[in-house]
Amino acid sequence: MTIQEAEKKLKLCGQEHVLRFFKKLGKKEQAALLGQVATIEPKNVKACQTALKAGVEAVDNSKGTAPKVSVLKGKALKEAIAAGEAELKAGRVAALLVAGGQGSRLGYDGPKGCYSIGPVTGAPLFYFHARKILARSNRYGKPIPFYVMTSEANNAATVKCFEDNNYFGLDKKDVFFFTQGMWPGMTKEGKIILDAPGHVFMSPDGHGGLLAALKKSGALADMKKRGIKSVFFFQVDNPLVEIADPAFIGYHVNMKSEYSLKLCAKRDPFEKVGMPMKFGDKYRMVEYSEMTEEQCTRKTKSGELYFKYGSPAIHVFDRAFLDREASRPMPLHLAFKKIPVVDDSGKTVKSAEPNGYKFEKFIFDILPNAKTAAFLAFEQKDEFSPVKNAEGNDSPATCKADMQEKWAKWLAEAGVLVSRDMAIEIDPVYALDAADLKANGLCLGAE
Ligand code: UD1
Repeated sequence: MTIQEAEKKLKLCGQEHVLRFFKKLGKKEQAALLGQVATIEPKNVKACQTALKAGVEAVDNSKGTAPKVSVLKGKALKEAIAAGEAELKAGRVAALLVAGGQGSRLGYDGPKGCYSIGPVTGAPLFYFHARKILARSNRYGKPIPFYVMTSEANNAATVKCFEDNNYFGLDKKDVFFFTQGMWPGMTKEGKIILDAPGHVFMSPDGHGGLLAALKKSGALADMKKRGIKSVFFFQVDNPLVEIADPAFIGYHVNMKSEYSLKLCAKRDPFEKVGMPMKFGDKYRMVEYSEMTEEQCTRKTKSGELYFKYGSPAIHVFDRAFLDREASRPMPLHLAFKKIPVVDDSGKTVKSAEPNGYKFEKFIFDILPNAKTAAFLAFEQKDEFSPVKNAEGNDSPATCKADMQEKWAKWLAEAGVLVSRDMAIEIDPVYALDAADLKANGLCLGAE
């Protein structure tokens, strides 16, 4: 991009100040700043300004009701598994991982997927995800293409982790990395913030940036070319997730759903998970922080929590639905943060108080646009134990304990009793579930 093109673009959205130190910059800095301006879309700047004007108004969720949640058992479960297996055997299923976030709460600098979680081998989170995809692909004889969203900050390190580990056994041609967008931070007045004379402060556009990034990178077109119909979405921090499990895929297909969500009974009324609610004939995800105390603790006549289920962010999307949504604007969520700013003399000043806004999109905001949505219950302890905090709840310690608990149960089913203080780890390619473990002959040791 030339300086003239940059000036014209910034004028269009009233952001000429971005180039106010341009003449004083060295050649390299000038090129870098022009590179940043090239990524800024005037329509996005306007969307941020509109969001700022609207402010962080509290949305009224008081009329929300609990969705109808299916629990699959017996014949219904068998039918769902059969339908899911047919999809997997036909190669119509893809896996989609959002891994662009920073592990700041965990206090980990690298990509969260590189965080060591294997109780015995210290294998990273990515290992468990990739090996499950490989095992599932082997079982059904068709590759499950793996789409991994990264951010500018962690893309190179993420790709390196896969390269260094030989893609964890996956075929490289079935792994597709793509990078989410970055949006500029803004002052209350809607002006883009420079955090150095030649640098715009930018931050990742949230996991909802997924749609624009899927489209821009060609990942959506690649899915279409491969004949993908169902896209299994999951987050990087949960190694217990059963990626592309046939029951969930089959349920989604049988329900003719555009957007299906797995939900689990909350561990406690205030667990920090989102909650899909029904408003009229539409559904919308309500974040835990937006729920009132009354909503969190409301009980049914039988004494159960009324809003019993939470979302662990395990979804199946219809590929055509993602395609449709990728061309529509998404709502923006504002976060008021302390952002370093450059003063008139060109010096960077750190602010002691929040002084600017970051903008994020959330993938679940497309839920109300789904013509059909479906909700499936599952056991939290079997499939959801995220690594979010360094200590306490949802920490590496609780996650490792839950992984081991699950494997110990499988071993017990195969006739092998293990002491609870023994470290256990099972490679998903060796056994994807208890039945696999049994079939692999582990029970022979007991003979
Ligand atoms: C999220 C959900 C919450 C859900 C919970 C389950 C939001 C706002 N809330 O909470 O409803 O119950 O997970 O664990 O999402 N990511 C990106 N790019 C970004 C930001 C995040 O790819 O710009 C990815 C992260 O790498 C991660 C996932 O999105 O895989 C979730 O991000 P995180 O910030 O951990 O979400 P939570 O607040 O924990």
